[in-house]
Amino acid sequence: MTKTSPLAVVHFQDQTAEMQCEESVLETLLRVGHKVPNSCRVGLCQSCLLKSDESFLKQDHLVRENAQQGLSDQQIQSHHFLSCCCYPEGELFAEKPDRNMDWLVEVTGHELISPTVLELRMKAEGRWQPGQHVLLWKDDLNARSYSIVSHPDRDGELVLHIALHQRGVVSRWCHAEVKVGDRLRLTEPSGYCVYDVQDSDRSLLMVAVGTGLAPVYGVLQEALAQGHSGNIDVYLCASPHAEPYLCEQLLGLAAHHGQLQVNIVQAAPVQAATPPNPASEAQTLMDAVKKHHSSLRGAKVYLCGEGAMINDFKKLCFFAGASRHDIVVEEFVLAAQTNYPSS
Ligand SMILES: Cc1cc2nc3c(=O)[nH]c(=O)nc-3n(C[C@H](O)[C@H](O)[C@H](O)COP(=O)(O)OP(=O)(O)OC[C@H]3O[C@@H](n4cnc5c(N)ncnc54)[C@H](O)[C@@H]3O)c2cc1C
Ligand code: FES
Repeated sequence: MTKTSPLAVVHFQDQTAEMQCEESVLETLLRVGHKVPNSCRVGLCQSCLLKSDESFLKQDHLVRENAQQGLSDQQIQSHHFLSCCCYPEGELFAEKPDRNMDWLVEVTGHELISPTVLELRMKAEGRWQPGQHVLLWKDDLNARSYSIVSHPDRDGELVLHIALHQRGVVSRWCHAEVKVGDRLRLTEPSGYCVYDVQDSDRSLLMVAVGTGLAPVYGVLQEALAQGHSGNIDVYLCASPHAEPYLCEQLLGLAAHHGQLQVNIVQAAPVQAATPPNPASEAQTLMDAVKKHHSSLRGAKVYLCGEGAMINDFKKLCFFAGASRHDIVVEEFVLAAQTNYPSS
């Protein structure tokens, strides 16, 4: 990753801030007291989006590419960038982004589908693909990403699965305060964790840790709707915030679709107090997978959910023969500590 030169300065809301070595634009702005929304800080959620001007075009090609990963063509052309991934050189002018493309949606369903997982249903006008994620705004500062379970035509509603984090700002608000009839703000769907019809006869391995089942269930239902003929193996794993859920529904689907196998693996301890051991959790899961697959050569792999074991398991899949390009990772990176009050 490109790091900031010590002479870089960022201009934002009539203030000029000198950037410190290895600081992103987001970190500089937070350090000098600006309230910039942010969550994952690794370029996944897009909550830290800002807009620049011609000064952005003067940045090195790699600086721009890194700061605009995953943005739409329209956002790229209008000089939007992710402030958590932007390490400019020289001068950069930044301002708040255009959010006029955000969706206003109406909550149509609010139901616990397990002791810790809320199913939130919304009436939304736009288009999306199951497995993509949206940014859900609690207020002007706090937004989090959630993966989409449903299909716009088959289901007619946008459906999210939200695990409760006891001290979490947005998940706790969704569980405790959001209600049917509320109008919520979402940023347009993005992401590449989707079904590809060109994979229709391939072997699919889908791993869901906790609410990683949201994108997995979305992609799985799309694969079945598209008549996927290859084998599909789904592995449901516990996470400290969500035990495997919807197990009966998945086993019911498997009973009707001969190519589908559903496996439940207790790879991680369910108590949040127990220290996680990602390498051993990933190995437990791989041992379970190896009972059915001696090799993952030619398979397409989806790894979705929260926890470091997702990345450890990705390496094991690679060692088991899966090609790097065929491993789709949707990691639920949690928010870093913010510098402003959460209310
Ligand atoms: C691409 C993507 C897709 C995602 N999809 C989903 C999905 O489909 N479903 C889903 O459930 N999640 C999903 N997530 C995760 C989601 O975006 C949030 O990170 C998650 O809901 C937690 O948000 P929060 O605001 O509740 O917690 P935050 O406020 O962000 O807190 C983060 C963590 O810190 C802990 N914490 C907060 N404050 C304190 C404190 N003072 N002391 C100690 N601990 C504290 C919280 O308990 C929590 O575990 C996704 C993430 C990404 C990046
Ligand atoms: S993309 Fe920058 S905070 Fe998530």
